[in-house]
Amino acid sequence: MKSLRINRSDSDVSKLVRTLRNDAKKKEEFFDYIISGPILEIGCGSGQVLKKISRAFPHAKLYGLDADPRLIKIAKRKHIPNCTFFHSLAQNSIILPAAVRNVIFPASLHEIVSFSNKDDISQLFRNVHSYLARDGVVIIWEGIRSDYGNVTISNSPTIPQLLSFAKKFEYKKYFWKKSNDSQYSVSFDLLAEYVTKKDRLDIPMEYKETHFPLSQSEYESLLRSTGFEIVVLNNKPLHQKELQWLYKNFKFEKDISNVPVYTLIVAKKSRSINPL
Ligand SMILES: C[S@@+](CC[C@H](N)C(=O)[O-])C[C@H]1O[C@@H](n2cnc3c(N)ncnc32)[C@H](O)[C@@H]1O
Repeated sequence: MKSLRINRSDSDVSKLVRTLRNDAKKKEEFFDYIISGPILEIGCGSGQVLKKISRAFPHAKLYGLDADPRLIKIAKRKHIPNCTFFHSLAQNSIILPAAVRNVIFPASLHEIVSFSNKDDISQLFRNVHSYLARDGVVIIWEGIRSDYGNVTISNSPTIPQLLSFAKKFEYKKYFWKKSNDSQYSVSFDLLAEYVTKKDRLDIPMEYKETHFPLSQSEYESLLRSTGFEIVVLNNKPLHQKELQWLYKNFKFEKDISNVPVYTLIVAKKSRSINPL
């Protein structure tokens, strides 16, 4: 088995577990798209979502897969009824006792993409295709890279913090440039990354992973090339609280409140694929 490229300290694991507990409620948004039958969560972390799913779907057989043994241990301690856990990298194939009807990625794909290469991600979706029954669905609840371009911001004592984050961010170089004494041109995606991380800047991992891993066309082509057809695509802008914080802290020349940054994708199997 290839090893997990994430290097998270034990204290970062504790902070992640706390964040996952606080964020679990909003992930219930995709429960409406779950179809009856077994459910596999890829990147299940501490099992917070599976715990909620087991209450909403008490008769479903549940499976959780995660590459971090510390998180699997915490998930097992929840004693979620009818749930089996796998410690594995998502890009490695596992053997399930029977096909599942749902494979879900609630806020896990950004981490998997951040710490894997393109071939791994393609292999992962081929695995997902093989785990699913013929009428099964894959559900992705995740950030999308906007490719919106740059925006001009001004008059803010928060600009130095934003730029310090941009300089430390290792995953990619985000654009920023001083335009004049009080104005900066910055990439919209930098603002989105910052506003979703501003309260966790003490966690080294936040500089290594992106919350907005793929553009809409990249999601589409990944799914199409691995034998899926998108049946629901629901894009959303930043959450109200995130927008409020941005508007309170920066003066914008353009309205950024409708740029899509979150997506809920449901895809069904469209054809068979050849294993690589
Ligand atoms: C942000 S957490 C999400 C956890 C869970 N889905 C939730 O919403 O509570 C992402 C999880 O993906 C796992 N992960 C990252 N890369 C992985 C990989 N290549 N294979 C399997 N799990 C991976 C991490 O260990 C982490 O638990």
